[in-house]
Amino acid sequence: MCGIIGYVGQRPCRDILFRGLRKLEYRGYDSAGISIVTDGRFQLLHSVGNLDNLEAILEQLDDGGTLGIAHTRWATHGRPSTENAHPHTDCTGRFAIVLNGIVENYLSLRAMLKGEGHTFTSETDAEVVAHLIERAYRGSLQKAVAEAYQQMEGHFTYCAVAVDEPDVMVGMRRETPLVVGLGQGENFLASAVPAFLAETRAVIFPEDGDVVVVRRDGVQIFALDGASVERAVQRVDWDEEAAEKAGYETFMLKEIHEQPAALADTLAERISPEGGVVLEGLGLGPEDIRGLRRVVIVACGTSYHAGLVGSHALERWARLPAEVEVASEFRYRDPVLGPDCLCVAISQSGETADTLAAMRLARKAGARVLAVTNIVGSQATREADGVLFTRAGLEIGVAATKTFLSQVLAMLLLALHLGEERGVLSGEEVQTYTEGLRRIPALLSDYLEGAEPARVEEAARRYSTSRFFMCLGRRVGLPVALEGALKLKEISYIPTEAYAAGEMKHGPIALLEKGSPVLVVATDGPVYDKLISNVQEVIARGARVIAVASEGNEALAEMADEIFYVPRTEEMFAPLLAIVPLQLFAYYVATARGEKVDQPRNLAKTVTVE
Ligand code: G6P
Repeated sequence: MCGIIGYVGQRPCRDILFRGLRKLEYRGYDSAGISIVTDGRFQLLHSVGNLDNLEAILEQLDDGGTLGIAHTRWATHGRPSTENAHPHTDCTGRFAIVLNGIVENYLSLRAMLKGEGHTFTSETDAEVVAHLIERAYRGSLQKAVAEAYQQMEGHFTYCAVAVDEPDVMVGMRRETPLVVGLGQGENFLASAVPAFLAETRAVIFPEDGDVVVVRRDGVQIFALDGASVERAVQRVDWDEEAAEKAGYETFMLKEIHEQPAALADTLAERISPEGGVVLEGLGLGPEDIRGLRRVVIVACGTSYHAGLVGSHALERWARLPAEVEVASEFRYRDPVLGPDCLCVAISQSGETADTLAAMRLARKAGARVLAVTNIVGSQATREADGVLFTRAGLEIGVAATKTFLSQVLAMLLLALHLGEERGVLSGEEVQTYTEGLRRIPALLSDYLEGAEPARVEEAARRYSTSRFFMCLGRRVGLPVALEGALKLKEISYIPTEAYAAGEMKHGPIALLEKGSPVLVVATDGPVYDKLISNVQEVIARGARVIAVASEGNEALAEMADEIFYVPRTEEMFAPLLAIVPLQLFAYYVATARGEKVDQPRNLAKTVTVE
């Protein structure tokens, strides 16, 4: 968690750093700070709360310095406070650092450093880094940073500057992101590309243990032993607009409307002219695929819900037993896996600590690991045997929307591919499914441009004072119900229970009282009639039913208090459409309540800590 940016160049860097932080705010926003080197000393500024608070006092820094580092924090060790906000400095005030991640042995390091007479001013794990550098410094920041790295356990990225070396910053990473931006007479270090996208598109993705030495006129990378290392320069093709709201009131709403494009991009080049599924880079040959006996899907949050849809598709189309588990639980099991098991790790960021740990465990237990992720160069892509990229583009809203749809689609494509390779599906069957899939982006686009979203908005405003929601679904409707409930919880803060509709009578039905709003995912499928019995049970308790149904379902309109129609499709594709009214419903409930949907309280977009 946390966002880091560093600049060295010829321009005054205060505002460049602040603009970079704005682009990283999705990584955490409970406190922030900037440190700039001027006249042989640090100017430091810290604030608590989101970046508006830092902006309000930014003028306190004089804008003369051309070397600086900045940080937006998501607290792990130590509450959000100015003392705990980064950058942190050493005892002498000669070194400043910013850190993302966790230094797991910080308590023993702190005790050792205190024993040697160092004094600490914060409760953070990060501060030890400044003192370790102070301790190791013998005229070379590069060497001191590398020495500190070797004393630390955990996963982290940090960037350091020294007043005695006012033309250099040094960054390192271990299992968390660090990118270098290459400009003209200026260079950048950051947690993620958007931080400097307005300035340059030429980037380097350093590896773990690389000592990245950045000066205004160039970047050198060294191994820990001091040997020079070459890393390729890549160009990123995101435009800056993509990281802006493009006229929408929030990133989340913009990203909901980008879903047809996200689906189209995820499909692009993955369907052959004959209608087959083409997936490059899976790291699985035809023999491997035929030898598979089982799939284990690991993921967190929204990605876990995409995994649940994927498990249905894998069972149905590839006849592979498919289990799904939240990564934070899976990582502490003793799983029985082997080379005939495929572990699919779904993570939009590719940086979620629990998912990475689950991948490592699966690999250790002998399984092959496939990462399904949205971020090129992310840690998951480095550790997996193969990668299936979702191509949703940058997602900034903390509540995932378009990445969910892309993940579901990627899992459907994977299931079709495995199904055909294993001889479960014929070429014609796959072709029928891919023809259907090809139509989904346009169906969704028509939906978003049609009259339905306004109907959802109007209903959401009426229900926005509810104290509780229940969401129900069956088969692939259940992950949709779970995801819809997660959206409501994340951004509206209204307690919401999501349950398998058939299981409701074993407990949650007791929560219902007259007028309780119950969202039901009731698109067409083999258990539609069973689901309607569950709807009747709800109605009998006096609850109000808000149904998501397939277009033209008039019978349900008679029964329900509200009905949100989505285009009719093959059951397995329905989650791609049925989730959208629930995303919009959650969105408009939250905005009617005045909540800041892009930055929900207590949450962060990328969770790089356990
Ligand atoms: C956080 C985000 C969620 C996301 C989850 C997993 O909780 O707020 O939106 O679903 O992490 O993230 P990942 O990047 O692994 O998909």
